Amino acid sequence: MRQVTDIDINKLYEVKVEKLSNLGYGIAKIDGFVVFIPNSCPDDELKIKITKKNKNFGHAEIVEIIKPSESRIEPFCKMQKVCGACQLQFIDYESQLKYKKEIVEDCMHSLSLKDIQINDVIPSPEIKEFRHKIQYPISETKESKRMLAGYYKSGSHEIVNIKHCPIQPSYCDKIIEFIRENSKQYNVSGYIESKHSGDLRHVVIRSSAFNNKSLVILVVNSDKIKDKFTKLAECIYNNLPNISGVGINFNNKKTNLILGNRTDFVIGDKYIYETLCDKTFKVSANTFFQVNPKSANNIFIYIRDYISKNFNNPSILDAYAGIAAFGICMSDTASKVVSVEEVKESVDLANEIINDNNINNIKTICMDAGKCFSEMANSDEKFDITILDPPRKGCTKESLEYALKLTTKKIIYVSCNPSSLARDLKFLTGKGCKIKSIQPFDMFPHTYHIENVVIIDR
Ligand SMILES: C[S@@+](CC[C@H](N)C(=O)[O-])C[C@H]1O[C@@H](n2cnc3c(N)ncnc32)[C@H](O)[C@@H]1O
Repeated sequence: MRQVTDIDINKLYEVKVEKLSNLGYGIAKIDGFVVFIPNSCPDDELKIKITKKNKNFGHAEIVEIIKPSESRIEPFCKMQKVCGACQLQFIDYESQLKYKKEIVEDCMHSLSLKDIQINDVIPSPEIKEFRHKIQYPISETKESKRMLAGYYKSGSHEIVNIKHCPIQPSYCDKIIEFIRENSKQYNVSGYIESKHSGDLRHVVIRSSAFNNKSLVILVVNSDKIKDKFTKLAECIYNNLPNISGVGINFNNKKTNLILGNRTDFVIGDKYIYETLCDKTFKVSANTFFQVNPKSANNIFIYIRDYISKNFNNPSILDAYAGIAAFGICMSDTASKVVSVEEVKESVDLANEIINDNNINNIKTICMDAGKCFSEMANSDEKFDITILDPPRKGCTKESLEYALKLTTKKIIYVSCNPSSLARDLKFLTGKGCKIKSIQPFDMFPHTYHIENVVIIDR
C-alpha cells in the first residue's frame, strides 16, 4: 500500500472508481490508498485532485471525467449539481438500486456477516414527486431583500433558491412561490442565520400521497410577530387549492432544529390523512411519518403478508413505534399489539388513529424502548414477534438483550442505516439468532439512503 506521505494534496491522479461508499461517495484507490470522490460512480475513469487526507484515507474532487461510467445519465433536475438533496441523480435508477444493494452487502461483509443473502432492492413506486415532507430553509438576498427558499448547498448553509423540485409534488412549488411573492405585502422578511435576525426561518409542508392535500407550517423567529403571520397564513389558505390547514411554529433559538416546541394552528385542519394497508392515518406537522408513503406502504404490506402467512394471530411488540404505524397495519393479523414510543405527541396521535380506525387490540406505551423492554422482561412478558424500527443510530446492546428475552419467535428489524444494522445483526447472531436474508427497499431515490427489513429467527 502506498504510504500516506506519498499522496500529495492538490496533486492530480488518474483513477477508476470501484464502488460507492455508504454515504454515496465513489471509492477509488491510489496504490491501495482509499479516496472518496463525491459525484462519481463505479466504473468512472477520472482525473482527480486530492483535497484532504488523513492517515487511512483521503477526499478528492473530480478534475476531469476521462471515461464516464455507463451508468451516468443527465440528471432530470437542473439544480442537481448545486443542491445537496439528490447526490445520485446522475446515475440511472436501475444502477442506483444495484449500487445500494452493494452498499448493504459491503456493510454486512465488513462485519464478517457473509452468509446473509441480500435480495434485490424493491424500487420506490415513484422516482419523481415521491417526497411528501418538505422543509425549506428561508432567507433573503442582501441588497434586494428577495426571499430565498430551497435546500442547502452540499456541506454548507448557503440556500439554493429552488423554483421547481422534481422529487416533490409539483403543487409544493406553487405553495413556496406563493409565499415568496406574498410575504412582502405582510412585511415578512427572510431569516439571516448569521445574525439570528429576520422573521421566517423555514416553511414545512406535509402533503398527502393519497389525496394531494397539504399542511403548511411557517416557522418564525419570534412570537411577537404572530399578527403578520396570521394574515399570511389566512392568505395562503384562502388563495391556494388543497391546503388542509396552516399553522405557525415558534422557534427563536440559535439551533439547527427546524421546529420549536409551540405550534399555533391559524386556520383549517391540523392534519392531513394518508392511507396505508387500508388504514387511515392522521399525520401532523411535528410527528414522525415516512416521507415516501407509497414506498413505506410496500414495507408494511411485505411485513403484514409475512406475518399472516406464517403465524396465526401472534402477539406483536411494535417498538420505536412513532404513531404506531406498524402496530396499526399489523393489528388485523395479531391477537394483541403493544406499541412503544418515547415522544408523547406521537403516542397521543397514535391513540387517536387507533380510535379512528376502531382498533381494539393495541395498547400504546410512552416510554424509552430500552427501559420499557427491561420492565416487561422483569415481569416475564412474552411476544411472538418484536418489530424494531429504531432511528439511524440503531438499538443499544441492552435493548437488544431485552428484546431477545421478550421475543419467542421472530424479531423483525426495520432499519434506515445499514451500518448500525450490521452492528446490531452481528450482536444478535452472536447470541445465536439466525438470519437468511435482508430485503432492501428504496424509500429515497437519488440519495444514498436505503431501508432494510430483516426477519430474524429467534
Ligand atoms: C425510524 S422512526 C420509526 C417510526 C415508526 N415505526 C414508523 O414507521 O412510522 C423511529 C422512532 O423511534 C422513536 N425513538 C427514538 N429513540 C427511542 C427510544 N429510545 N425509545 C422509544 N422510542 C424511540 C422516535 O421518536 C421515532 O418515532
